[in-house]
Amino acid sequence: MLRSHTCGELRLTDAGKSVTLSGWVQISRDFGGLTFVDLRDRYGITQLAFNMSTNAELCEQARKLNREFVVQVSGTVRERENKNPKIPTGDIEIIVDSIKVLNSAKTPPFTIEDETDGGDDLRMKYRYLDIRRAPVRESLLLRHRLAQETRKYLSDQEFIEVETPVLIKSTPEGARDFVVPSRMNAGQFYALPQSPQTFKQLLMVAGMDRYFQIVKCFRDEDLRADRQPEFTQIDCEMSFVERADILDMFEGLVRHLFKTVKGIDIGKLPHMSYADAAKYYGNDKPDTRFEMKFVELNDVVKNKGFKVFDDAELVVGICAKGAASYTRKQLDELTEFVKRPQLGATGLVYARYNADGTIKSSVDKFYNEDELKKWVAAFGAEPGDLMLILAGGIDKTRKALSELRLEMGTQLGLRDKNKFSCLWVIDFPLLEYNEEHNRWFAMHHPFTAPWPEDIAKLSNPAQFGEIRANAYDMVINGVEVGGGSIRIYDKALQAKMFETLGFTAEEAQAQFGFLMNAFEFGAPPHGGIAFGFDRLCSLFGGAESIRDFIAFPKNNSGRDVMIDSPSVIDDKQLKELNIKTTV
Ligand code: AMO
Repeated sequence: MLRSHTCGELRLTDAGKSVTLSGWVQISRDFGGLTFVDLRDRYGITQLAFNMSTNAELCEQARKLNREFVVQVSGTVRERENKNPKIPTGDIEIIVDSIKVLNSAKTPPFTIEDETDGGDDLRMKYRYLDIRRAPVRESLLLRHRLAQETRKYLSDQEFIEVETPVLIKSTPEGARDFVVPSRMNAGQFYALPQSPQTFKQLLMVAGMDRYFQIVKCFRDEDLRADRQPEFTQIDCEMSFVERADILDMFEGLVRHLFKTVKGIDIGKLPHMSYADAAKYYGNDKPDTRFEMKFVELNDVVKNKGFKVFDDAELVVGICAKGAASYTRKQLDELTEFVKRPQLGATGLVYARYNADGTIKSSVDKFYNEDELKKWVAAFGAEPGDLMLILAGGIDKTRKALSELRLEMGTQLGLRDKNKFSCLWVIDFPLLEYNEEHNRWFAMHHPFTAPWPEDIAKLSNPAQFGEIRANAYDMVINGVEVGGGSIRIYDKALQAKMFETLGFTAEEAQAQFGFLMNAFEFGAPPHGGIAFGFDRLCSLFGGAESIRDFIAFPKNNSGRDVMIDSPSVIDDKQLKELNIKTTV
């Protein structure tokens, strides 16, 4: 070994020991008679001390060390005169008596410190330097810890980790596939899995009973802060279970992770129906760290001559505690916020319930003080609160108010990243209608079981929208961290589902025959869930973006700027793959 200790290890109790350390030069500081070098590795930073009067040659050598040189030093541990309480090794330093440069380094393109001057693109191009920075390193360590605890919990519960193939088959449902041409089968393509869904179900037919996999999934969709084209799932499936069993088991997993990794007890998770999530929070992944629930006002505000409210399908609002002091400018900004094209609200109505008990609204012309008192009652508002109201079509208005609620939560400091609010959202609709494609799609995926009492509705298109799925999502702080369902395990019902989705019997057989045929060989009742592992990591790490929890992520255009991929391949390779060139 080129070291006896790491740079994060030595303490005052080690004073007097002869040690050898290896690492990177963080910084070299010259104080005339004394030179200090901070030596860094994965474990921490240790100060090296060089004294001009005792060893001038060595001191000269130390002064010449540039940032990021890789060096090996030997010396003696000693108590530091000026201790640094900010780092665990801050009580000691090494009096160096020999130094060896193991490798030199060019000046890095950005500073390797907690706060760096490197922009996103530069950091990604030199990701190996970025990972030397403590915050990124810590994020990867956190990921490792979460993966280990996941494996531990699931193994203890008799789950076994099984690898499923990466070269599979393209299917028309779900997101867009990434495809891989097959050289040996001219003109044919594999697809990379969007998830191991069908394989894990086949493992249940195979009697594996409890399966999990920490697995890469690939989806060719537009990227966002919490989406990558290749991402990782904790993918799980169980046999002979009902919904309650699955919720218990995986609530247990998340409880175990919070307890072991963060020392937090999250308690029992509440359940919220999809319908309630939509009604009270305007979306299916409510941030329940704060209240500010939607209050529907149709009965309170209509027929007073205000056309916007009278004509609206839904009038709905939120009550922002203590925000009556918002200035006109702040309210104008909120109005602009909801009028952005992404939200498309036509305007924002507000009413201040002032501390002195008076109520002032932006629509005083239509609503007198007595009327406004009814608003106050509906919201349960108190003096000092601000009521914010939107009106319009149900879906669009809920979506806009949901964004406004989150914005108010942020502005009022109610979205503390160190506070965690977890819940299950249950009873999603089985199907959703897509105007563009003019047909029904599975909201989760086509293998999700409807509630038994809703199965009959599959025979009546007029009732498709009412069918409830036995599906569930886990939501933490407004992030969908996981989703799953009880599955269909009966061939006839699975065939009916494909028919509902517009497949002919031949198409269903060609695409999913392997699964439906398997159902004829004794498929057990089963169900499962998949967690977005990157999202779980970023939540635990208190970050919005999942990127820093992935060692080598893609940028917003789906590129790896470090290895410069995707890239063109040469004609010879294309020919071998039977792909015609366009040039
Ligand atoms: P679903 O499609 O809901 O379910 O995915 C499960 C979880 O994976 C995460 N996730 C993503 N994370 C990062 N980048 C992405 N592009 C991305 N897409 C999804 C989310 C999501 O909750 N086979 C089913 C699971 C099942 O039914 O068991 C599935 O894949 O956190």
